[in-house]
Amino acid sequence: MTKPRRACIIGHPVKHSRSPMIHGFWLKSFGLEGSYEREDVTPDALEAFLRGLAARGYVGGNVTIPHKEAAFGTVDRRTARAEALGAVNTVWFEDGLLWGDNTDVTGFLANLDDRAPGWDDGLDKAVVLGAGGAAAAIVAGIKERGAKRILVANRTAEKTEALIRRFGSVVEAAAWPPSAATFAGAGLLVNTTSLGMDGKPGLDIDLAGLPAQAVVTDAVYVPLETELLANAAARGLRTVDGLGMLLHQAVPGFERWFGRRPVVTPELRALVEADIGR
Ligand code: ATR
Repeated sequence: MTKPRRACIIGHPVKHSRSPMIHGFWLKSFGLEGSYEREDVTPDALEAFLRGLAARGYVGGNVTIPHKEAAFGTVDRRTARAEALGAVNTVWFEDGLLWGDNTDVTGFLANLDDRAPGWDDGLDKAVVLGAGGAAAAIVAGIKERGAKRILVANRTAEKTEALIRRFGSVVEAAAWPPSAATFAGAGLLVNTTSLGMDGKPGLDIDLAGLPAQAVVTDAVYVPLETELLANAAARGLRTVDGLGMLLHQAVPGFERWFGRRPVVTPELRALVEADIGR
């Protein structure tokens, strides 16, 4: 008899992570005996924890804030996407080596493909607000889909410069706060700043410059309908909330650890939505 497989989420803090709920739902729906546990690991203990992952009985796991860059430096092998981002959020073993991937790119793309099909058809210009870790994954995804220009507006200009160094001249610096000129002709607007999140100020920007066919999406998913999404919907624009990015980024990890490819279903979404509303 083989032992049930165990995976975990490694973060600090990790108590509020919804990943155990997502992977728990899939384990149950496949009737698998495995588990997905929370591991609160401080930054000074991360490297030793990852090196001892197999000895602790884990087949892999997710890595979240504030460990994604440190995990990048600790794994033995990385996927091309992890290399492009300099950050790892999913780890697993292959032939005794610890591999690292970044599935935030997949999560972002799969969410838009699911909720706004055709969003990338002939995409010429996209606008990204913010330039942190989430922005890097999102810029990588938009670049993969062939956008010609990705305008990044961020409060701190140096962070935009770092994205330009990482992704090249497809990324251009735009003014913060974003202007109507930045939005003109854009097919996609993405918020990756923490503005609009519960407990933070809202993202109160004038969307008048956006074309009528633009898609607006938010990486923030608490609340589900942010001020940005409400404003965009009021203008008749297509909107996509950020919860799907969280759900879809979990798919590749589950498949690697447990050997079955899960699906993001309305039932899973409803379960996590109810938890957010609580
Ligand atoms: P993540 O990894 O989730 O992207 P992060 O790296 O902390 O998190 O990035 C948060 C983003 O929100 C940054 O772009 C940040 O802008 P700065 O680079 O200037 O810090 C942005 N942000 C947070 N609070 C903000 C505020 N009050 N006004 C404007 N931008 C803000």
